[in-house]
Amino acid sequence: MYRFRRLRRDERIRSMMQETRLHPKNFIYPVFVTEGEKIKNPVASMPGVFQYSVDRLDEILEQVKEAAIGGIMLFGIPQHKDPQGSQAYAADGVTRRAVRFIKEHYPAIYIVVDVCLCEYTSHGHCGMVCGNEILNDETLPYLVKMAVSLVEAGADMVAPSDMMDGRIAAIRKGLDEAGFTQVPIMAYSAKFASAYYGPFREAAHSAPEFGDRRSYQMDCANGQEALREIGADIEEGADIVMVKPALAYLDVLREAALTFDMPLAVYNVSGEYAMVKAAAANGWIDERRVVMENLTAMKRAGARVIITYHALDAVRWIEYIY
Ligand code: PBG
Ligand code: ZN
Repeated sequence: MYRFRRLRRDERIRSMMQETRLHPKNFIYPVFVTEGEKIKNPVASMPGVFQYSVDRLDEILEQVKEAAIGGIMLFGIPQHKDPQGSQAYAADGVTRRAVRFIKEHYPAIYIVVDVCLCEYTSHGHCGMVCGNEILNDETLPYLVKMAVSLVEAGADMVAPSDMMDGRIAAIRKGLDEAGFTQVPIMAYSAKFASAYYGPFREAAHSAPEFGDRRSYQMDCANGQEALREIGADIEEGADIVMVKPALAYLDVLREAALTFDMPLAVYNVSGEYAMVKAAAANGWIDERRVVMENLTAMKRAGARVIITYHALDAVRWIEYIY
């Protein structure tokens, strides 16, 4: 009889046989930066997550530096919002100021910026609005302006997240023309219209004022379409392609890993984080073990990069586990 248990007998052989291992460099930690001074606002539905003003970013950046993770994903929250989302590309916009600050004081931290207008528009949609229509091509120049302006400020990578069409080609062209041929694009290629983004919209003040995002984000029922979206972004020049959310879409991630010879990212989103934190706070689950199991599953399914609010905890737990 073949005995699988021979390789499970004790911790020494179990850890030698482990197929998937998490590493701090796999993680990108999302950071919310808000306008104003001396601000550290807790996000109610995301225990442990805060909005920081630029002058208080040190507090979180020291932790990021110490954890030596792969990088951060920056989200700006402006005070002034208008239909064109002009603070997204304003010279003194909060996100640009944050990027400059990080670049100057923490040059070792790799900065990814989320490129989308929904935090900056008064209507909360990711694109220009005409009546009830969210415009596709008319939004492109604004996104290109935002991407170029944040890279000029010092961002290392851009991550367009609005899920409309033609984003990657337009931003690639814009970056190249501005001389930033070396700056990679991480495409939110298969981003589903998901109820799991609820807590994020509280954190980033980006809930749409009317309607929803289903005319641009994907239907959760569509795995085949997700592969076509990923294929299109690769053709347009994406350097990394992403599946989002993570846990309910690991089949899509796996399929993408088997189909495309490309670096894959997964976004372990706010609602996934909130559920784990809520259950843990009630004593219903063992937070450390559940988080590590979830993150390991994401890597096992094919993700090289995991964007997660658990990143800083997970680094401590990796040391504990391995
Ligand atoms: C902006 C954006 C969203 C998220 C990342 N970038 C929200 C949305 O599309 O409504 C979600 C992240 C999360 O839930 O953690 N387009
Ligand atoms: Zn958006």
